[in-house]
Amino acid sequence: MTAEKQAELRVAGEGYPLKALEGTMGDLALDIRDLRAQSGRVAYDPGMANVASCRSAITFVDGEKGILLHRGYALEDLIENCNFTEVAYLLIHGALPPEEKRKKFSALLNLHSMLHEDMRSFFGNYPEGAHPMAVLSAMVVSLSSFYPELRHNGVKEEVDITVTRLLSKLRTIAAFSYKKSIGEPYIYPSHKYSYCENFLNMMFRSPVSRYKAEPEDVALMNKLLILHADHEQNASTTAMRMVGSTGANLYACISAGICALWGPLHGGANQAVVEMLEGIIEEGLTPEQVLARAKNKQDPFRLMGFGHRIYKTYDPRAKIAKRLCTELLQRRPINDKLFDVALELEERALADEYFRERNLYPNVDYYTGLIYRALGFPTEMYPVLFALGRLPGWIAHWLEMRQDPDQKLMRPRQIYVGPERREFAPVETRE
Ligand code: ACO
Repeated sequence: MTAEKQAELRVAGEGYPLKALEGTMGDLALDIRDLRAQSGRVAYDPGMANVASCRSAITFVDGEKGILLHRGYALEDLIENCNFTEVAYLLIHGALPPEEKRKKFSALLNLHSMLHEDMRSFFGNYPEGAHPMAVLSAMVVSLSSFYPELRHNGVKEEVDITVTRLLSKLRTIAAFSYKKSIGEPYIYPSHKYSYCENFLNMMFRSPVSRYKAEPEDVALMNKLLILHADHEQNASTTAMRMVGSTGANLYACISAGICALWGPLHGGANQAVVEMLEGIIEEGLTPEQVLARAKNKQDPFRLMGFGHRIYKTYDPRAKIAKRLCTELLQRRPINDKLFDVALELEERALADEYFRERNLYPNVDYYTGLIYRALGFPTEMYPVLFALGRLPGWIAHWLEMRQDPDQKLMRPRQIYVGPERREFAPVETRE
């Protein structure tokens, strides 16, 4: 990052110098860290749409051109050429692993895939129908009471073990929470499988069925997880960094990220899209009726899976998801009416003035739920699959944050609009 010329902010005739900053891909910023001290003013930006909360070397997004790079590599190249664990390694360590390191990383992932046996009993205490995201976030924070915290000056081996432990165990927790929700016995991870095959096996095998994951499904699962691996300072990563800025341990921070991801405006949108499509079919709505509702400002309904804070063009992840969904539905002759409705809605929305003016395009969640559905995952597991994919991104940001000398406790200001100071009212005088 290079520091450019100074900029100046003029307020009420006074000039305040602001340092101008530029990122390696041309991102421009003004450093307002001294704004309040200099001018007595703070910046007001509720959705933080104009705030860079850190400098980061992990992921680059150009929302106008639809470009997404991880550590400099295009998402499309990573999807075609890597498996998920290689991309996880890339995000966390900054470089693609040579063969020796790749093998060691995979071996560590296998070594740490079991959950502490005492944790098993936790699953049994959740009520039937508990959302797996609730179970996932609670289980992840519980890991902090079973495994040691990463020391601030932890040596590389310690970092590797903590990171692989979390990557590996999240997959086991995710599968166990599903098995609990359907009342089937847990299937343990096995050293004989790769990361994604292990996950599919824990999800879909049961004592009465000899499930064997199809190689095409394993490959697809890898692509889906890579698709979600990181997306710079989104809501869940920011929540995770916010908690991390207090000095909380890695497990607590990731649990916070999972909770933020759950919301339907973020990672919960994949579930919301499929539920929306099911509702459209159930109620027999036409695309015109659906779009009319989405455009009506008096109606809280939104076209789920459409729109993005950063992308003002087609989300590159949505493009890939649409292709993967089409390929899967051709490979498995599933006649999914929901997919037909999704395609038609997309076509109509992209031709509609309202969506064009506002640059609203499908985002990553528009087609991924349909893929999960075709693979046999229940609807409530969709955000869990997103979390599984996003984990290496969260970890990479957590590690980066700890090394960044500019990072400090995140504690925004406000503009107070409540009552001015007033006399205390004793109970007998209150109305
Ligand atoms: N349907 C209908 N109108 C929409 C939609 C939508 N999906 N998304 C945005 N708009 C409209 C807004 O009403 C607003 O209209 P206005 O200018 O007339 O007031 C305009 O487009 C701009 O929208 P904002 O809400 O200001 O955009 P913001 O950046 O705050 O929101 C968000 C982004 C939350 C993703 C939004 O597009 C949305 O709610 N989408 C549906 C939920 C969704 O798919 N979320 C997943 C996002 S991807 C991810 O997080 C992994």
